[in-house]
Amino acid sequence: MKKLTVAAIVVSFLALATVAFTQSFGVQLGGRKGPKQPIAYSHAIHAGKLGMDCRYCHYGAYKSNWANIPAMSTCMGCHKMAATDRPEVQKLTGYWERGENIPWVKVHYLPDHVKFNHKRHVQAGFACQECHGPVQEMDVVYQYSSLKMGWCVDCHRKHENDPKFTATLDCLACHH
Ligand code: HEC
Ligand code: HEC
Ligand code: HEC
Ligand code: HEC
Ligand code: HEC
Repeated sequence: MKKLTVAAIVVSFLALATVAFTQSFGVQLGGRKGPKQPIAYSHAIHAGKLGMDCRYCHYGAYKSNWANIPAMSTCMGCHKMAATDRPEVQKLTGYWERGENIPWVKVHYLPDHVKFNHKRHVQAGFACQECHGPVQEMDVVYQYSSLKMGWCVDCHRKHENDPKFTATLDCLACHH
């Protein structure tokens, strides 16, 4: 009886895994249009025209699992003085003065059963643009890569024998 249950679980897990693998290879890119954000913050202006380093705002991506979204104080370091005549900057100042957080709309999602780690990838030498595309040219950030399992596994397979940064195909490395 016990043996049967285990076998049934293994079979259904393998079936699911096969579906996951085949579906994942049908790469499906997110639309080239990001969500409407509460403030028209533009990466094309800040990371492009003004040439700001990603690290200035997203230091988390270099040293932790999560890439942080910058706090308002990071913006206000400049915007107490810079471009204060622009309506979108006045909106920013409004949030700041009311002590409210800006309700940024999240662009990238992975399901809860997946583990992803920024630091490992960034320290292995991948540029942000490898996965996120030309963010420094985007007025509105959109999801550039599919974020499907096939996308992750494709790259891991290419780096399976990398002597220094060896990527794994082990299910449990990516799944809880
Ligand atoms: C001045 C601060 C600032 C700089 C510099 C900056 N960003 Fe951002 N970034 C933000 C803010 C604020 C958001 C949230 C609003 C949005 O999505 O546009 C964001 C959002 C993002 C997102 C989407 C996050 C999500 O919700 O999934 C990505 C990806 C991203 N940034 C990558 C980059 C990259 C790559 C660079 C460097 C080329 C960069 N950023 C430079 C402030 C910054
Ligand atoms: C290093 C200084 C600096 C930081 C930090 C900074 N900005 Fe800016 N920002 C500027 C400058 C300078 C401009 C005007 C650029 C231009 O139009 O050429 C600007 C323009 C803007 C505009 C107006 C765009 C338009 O033309 O309507 C908005 C909105 C804005 N920033 C939001 C933000 C937000 C939100 C943050 C924090 C996530 C932020 N900025 C961080 C310097 C900064
Ligand atoms: C190997 C691919 C890859 C690289 C390289 C990468 N990212 Fe990401 N990024 C992702 C994935 C996948 C997510 C979604 C994570 C999630 O939902 O748990 C994400 C999410 C984000 C987010 C949203 C917050 C979060 O952590 O979920 C920001 C901001 C971001 N990345 C910025 C950056 C910046 C800045 C760099 C470069 C320093 C960078 N990323 C490098 C794949 C990558
Ligand atoms: C552009 C190539 C690339 C992409 C895309 C990529 N990875 Fe990786 N990943 C690597 C490499 C190379 C390593 C090994 C880094 C090291 O050795 O520190 C790695 C390491 C990891 C690790 C650490 C594994 C361990 O041994 O603990 C996890 C977890 C991981 N990746 C998950 C993901 C997930 C989930 C995705 C998709 C959402 C993804 N990766 C997309 C190249 C990639
Ligand atoms: C490099 C990271 C990575 C590895 C290795 C990996 N997965 Fe995944 N897997 C993901 C990501 C990311 C998703 C979520 C996106 C998607 O559904 O394609 C996912 C989704 C899934 C799903 C859910 C599919 C669905 O439609 O909801 C199953 C089941 C799954 N993986 C099983 C496995 C099995 C079994 C293995 C080992 C043979 C494995 N995964 C190895 C990253 C990985």
